[in-house]
Amino acid sequence: MAVAGSAIGLGNFLRFPGQVAQNGGGAFMIPYFISLLLLGLPLIWIEWTIGRFGGGFGHSTAPGMFHSMWEKNRFIKYFGVIGIFGPIVIYLYYIYIESWLLGYSMFALTGRYSACTTSESMVAFLHGYQGIERNEFFSSLGPAYLFYCITFVLNGLVLYYGVQGGIERVCKIGVPLLLLLAIILVVRVFLLGTPDPAYPENNVTNGLGFIWNPDWSALKSSKVWLAAAGQIFFTLSCGIGVILTYASYLQKNDDVALSGLTAAAANEFAEVILGASLVIPAAFAFFGADAMASIAKGGVFNLGFVTMPLVLQKLAFGNLFGFAWFMLLFIAGITSSISLGQPAVGFLMDEFNLPRRKAVMIFMAVTFVLTQPAIFFLGRGVVDELDFWGGSFFLVLFATIETILFAWVFGMDRAWTELHVGSDITIPRFYRFIIKYVTPLFLLFILGFWLLEDWLPIMLLKGVSSANLPYVICTRLGLGLLLLALVIMVRQSWKQRKLKGEKYAA
Ligand code: ALA
Repeated sequence: MAVAGSAIGLGNFLRFPGQVAQNGGGAFMIPYFISLLLLGLPLIWIEWTIGRFGGGFGHSTAPGMFHSMWEKNRFIKYFGVIGIFGPIVIYLYYIYIESWLLGYSMFALTGRYSACTTSESMVAFLHGYQGIERNEFFSSLGPAYLFYCITFVLNGLVLYYGVQGGIERVCKIGVPLLLLLAIILVVRVFLLGTPDPAYPENNVTNGLGFIWNPDWSALKSSKVWLAAAGQIFFTLSCGIGVILTYASYLQKNDDVALSGLTAAAANEFAEVILGASLVIPAAFAFFGADAMASIAKGGVFNLGFVTMPLVLQKLAFGNLFGFAWFMLLFIAGITSSISLGQPAVGFLMDEFNLPRRKAVMIFMAVTFVLTQPAIFFLGRGVVDELDFWGGSFFLVLFATIETILFAWVFGMDRAWTELHVGSDITIPRFYRFIIKYVTPLFLLFILGFWLLEDWLPIMLLKGVSSANLPYVICTRLGLGLLLLALVIMVRQSWKQRKLKGEKYAA
């Protein structure tokens, strides 16, 4: 349930519909499912297995896990640093966006945005709240900062209460609750029918058709393939490092094969069944295909923060439905953000023998400071920069490293046996071939392709306006320092262990 909670997040209900709308609906779904089967599922199994294996040696994060798997190599632990760095970087902006949802859920209840009846005014409301512009809706960043502080403390508290007392407890209640809220909203959306008889083609059924009618020609578009693979990474929380940490708390004989599959299946249910049945059909019924695609192109969150509140407030009990929508997203967000925080906390506890409370305090102090640029310089490209490094580049790099380590260094025979220790299912044998050859090649291909097509220009700061340049460079410097600090910490911790004569692997 905790891994499902980590996976089911803003990605399912906000990012996914945005991607579907931007990439031609049904066109997107074929590469999406192929990426799920060839990339997502193998990575899930790889991470659950590495996590449980490393946990057996007392490590809950990638540096120690990678070292346990390849003891002879002195450098592999440093590659594992990405598995702590990546989640921290995502955490820095994820909790800020999460806090908007808490704010909006209150605004829905109190009718604060009810005066906004057009997309333009709803966008102005959002920009006012984010501090991008001062307008009639907001005169300062105060409300956004207040909701950020509440969200920040809530996340800290859950981590403070630990894996069982905090994370497990929140996920056991949060995941079923968010699924229930989503089902209520799906039923309501399905009952929308054809809202405006003057435009009979704008209806819920056609909205679903937009997602589910496949367009085979899209298979030729590399852009659609990359978008689909990127969505699989983000939504399953794989390549980040968080599944490794959660799986490290398992016992040697706890199943990982079926558990991994189940968590992934729960996530896909929340994404392609519930996520796909909310924003897109609702936006399609009220605005039609073209308007919906252009709203989505305006920003990945526009459908969630602009279109959905507009649609929902047209309904009876619109305030309550609006509240349900934003609360659903907030719960989905918090069960994900706590998983992004746990690797850093686990790292401090395992590798420096710190008590949990102290580790959480250090984590909170550091992330509080580092989140400030995302809040105050949102309009200056800081969040995009964090998302690029944390949510794209390092994620694919880390997935590639762990896959090669698992299938080629640890060895496929050992890996397959380890994956099946205590397992409740036998994974079809052709997945041996997929994990060994197809997944690494797929990863190397998208790494290369992305690097040349999209990433290199971003890395070289192409297209960054001169006004944003200092902010983007400072963000990069900050991230570089964070990465360096983590590398030094790993070095120190290993030195200490060596002095004490401790071994890392039994
Ligand atoms: N997997 C999380 C999400 O979908 C990060 O939001």
